[in-house]
Amino acid sequence: MLEVHGLRKTYKSGRREVEALRDLTFTVDTGELVCLVGPSGCGKTTLLRCIAGLLEPSGGKISLDGHEVSGPAPGLAMVFQEYGRSLFPWMSVRDNVELPLKQKKLPRTRRAELVEEALGAVGLAGTESAYPWQLSGGMQQRVAIARAVAYEPSTLLMDEPFAAVDAQTRADLEDLVRALWRRLGVTVLFITHDIDEAVYLGQRVVMLSSSPTVVQDEVTVDLPADRDQLHTRADPRFTELRTHVYEQIQQAKLSQAL
Ligand SMILES: Nc1ncnc2c1ncn2[C@@H]1O[C@H](COP(=O)(O)OP(=O)(O)OP(=O)(O)O)[C@@H](O)[C@H]1O
Ligand SMILES: [Mg+2]
Repeated sequence: MLEVHGLRKTYKSGRREVEALRDLTFTVDTGELVCLVGPSGCGKTTLLRCIAGLLEPSGGKISLDGHEVSGPAPGLAMVFQEYGRSLFPWMSVRDNVELPLKQKKLPRTRRAELVEEALGAVGLAGTESAYPWQLSGGMQQRVAIARAVAYEPSTLLMDEPFAAVDAQTRADLEDLVRALWRRLGVTVLFITHDIDEAVYLGQRVVMLSSSPTVVQDEVTVDLPADRDQLHTRADPRFTELRTHVYEQIQQAKLSQAL
């Protein structure tokens, strides 16, 4: 279980201060898929970096499975916003996916198994010896997902992972994330600025205000677990939920403007 309580983060550089996160409190249960939506610049990446133990909060507390986060936690993997910068261009697909497994000090045969399984699961079997730059954007993002999955994390953090791919690829990758989540039983915190994507993917959607950021509202997505791009998005309940999320975000913007 992931617990974020009263989280604050203010960046300081010289005399300049930027209050990125004012007060965030929410939880993600073990095995749950929660989407977090918030406008551009509201501190989503900041929040994920704090959870991943890569950035020190200015206040509040984050705990993962009962342990307070004070640095990178072993059971956690992250898929970054920009796939282009998250893969090593001089390494083959296989080596990119295997790298964290070497750091985990797994034996060679186990590493090979995990790499093969993960690439198979994201539909990239056979691309092991290609280099990232030889692949399309969507395929590169699949490699990044495979790398996170191969690591066998208990918690997966995803930071707007599909913002830079085309709409069709994006739909495929959304379905891939849901399929992997259901198969692996991993806890997923998925960040996006896309309201439809949040409602389509999540079991729950947490809405953030614009900066200085607080949790504006949250809603349970009571759509059936079997989702598909055509039927789920045409479901009247889907429309109701996305309208609710949209209104909350608009309201957050208005109350901030006052
Ligand atoms: N290293 C830093 N130093 C100073 N200010 C920063 C730093 N990183 C981020 N910020 C500021 O903190 C705020 C939140 O940034 P962050 O990148 O977390 O937002 P975001 O919601 O991920 O944005 P986007 O939707 O564009 O990805 C912004 O105002 C940004 O300018
Ligand atoms: Mg960001």
